[in-house]
Amino acid sequence: MPSDPHAVIFAVESSCDETAAAVVKDGREVLSSVVFTQIPLHKVYGGVVPEIASRSHVEKIGAVCAEALAQANMTIYDVDAVAVTNGPGLVGALLVGVSYAKGLAYAAQKPLIAVHHIEGHIAANLIAHKDLDPPFVCLVASGGHTHIVHVDADWEMKLLGRTRDDAAGEAFDKVARILGLPYPGGPELEKLAKEGDPNAYRFHSAFNAGEHLDMSFSGLKTAAMNLVHHAEQKGESLRRADVAASFQKAVDDLLCAKAVHAALMCNCGTLALAGGVAANGFLRSRLEQAARKAGLRFVCPPMNLCTDNAAMIGAAAWWEWKKGNFAPLSLNALPSKKFAQQNFFTGDAS
Ligand code: KG4
Ligand code: ZN
Repeated sequence: MPSDPHAVIFAVESSCDETAAAVVKDGREVLSSVVFTQIPLHKVYGGVVPEIASRSHVEKIGAVCAEALAQANMTIYDVDAVAVTNGPGLVGALLVGVSYAKGLAYAAQKPLIAVHHIEGHIAANLIAHKDLDPPFVCLVASGGHTHIVHVDADWEMKLLGRTRDDAAGEAFDKVARILGLPYPGGPELEKLAKEGDPNAYRFHSAFNAGEHLDMSFSGLKTAAMNLVHHAEQKGESLRRADVAASFQKAVDDLLCAKAVHAALMCNCGTLALAGGVAANGFLRSRLEQAARKAGLRFVCPPMNLCTDNAAMIGAAAWWEWKKGNFAPLSLNALPSKKFAQQNFFTGDAS
């Protein structure tokens, strides 16, 4: 029933390399959350192989969904709606979750809710902080996106800034690869960086100067990669930990500066962090310090809610439930699903 704030939502997520299902009550309370990660399957190739991802989702989705319902002590007939990530992501991977969720919704005669993956990441903060209500500004940094978003009191999103090229997580993964670290590179690079000097090298990108809220990571990434390649070509030794620490600092400095600037411009008092890169401990503490210094409340989800999961999809779906925003059974996977109509400041399409 639209606008009824009480709803138990069964949520499915399969946009990349995690097959996940969860049961979430009233957008905040996680009754169950099951995540099957495919990372070991892709590790040997050094990155996600889309075909392997789709096949693994097909193999696992039934068991993952059954387990999530069992852990919540429910059947699909006990929930109020079925939610699913329908984009953005890998088309073959998304299709598995979308098809399965549509089948469940049809069989149990439940409304279907389509969720944007990035909105899911943002909603992870509402699970973790029960007293947090929009409006707030959120920095979402994942393997595919780096967005600064204003979330209004009705859960409408405005894009304030975004990366113009690589996502922050993508840049971490690529530099990690050059440093000989396994996939996914972000957490491995963070581990190596703990032994390094963050001030050993200075990585710089001219694009990032100025008042605007867009970001570029490809210049920073190329600078780090060139440093490693040139040292290799000259037969010089290089402290890999110093490169990792300096690169991490460059990325995190940029994210902190733009996110805090955005939150102050919007004057809403709260800055949130979300997405896989939010699991980076260095970023979490740097952003917390920077936000506090600027007089902002800072929130971020616990580690297990930063990387892909279905609980966050159930939390975001609750807002669509309240608006009565249901999807037809003709719902399709949208690999490049748009996030917001346009950049609030620059007018660019997202
Ligand atoms: O949100 P997510 O799980 O999947 C996408 O929606 O893309 O994000 C995955 C990304 C990967 O690029 C991964 O390397 C990065 O998040 N990541 C990290 C850390 N943990 C995950 N990056 C830096 N430091 C970490 N600790
Ligand atoms: Zn994600």
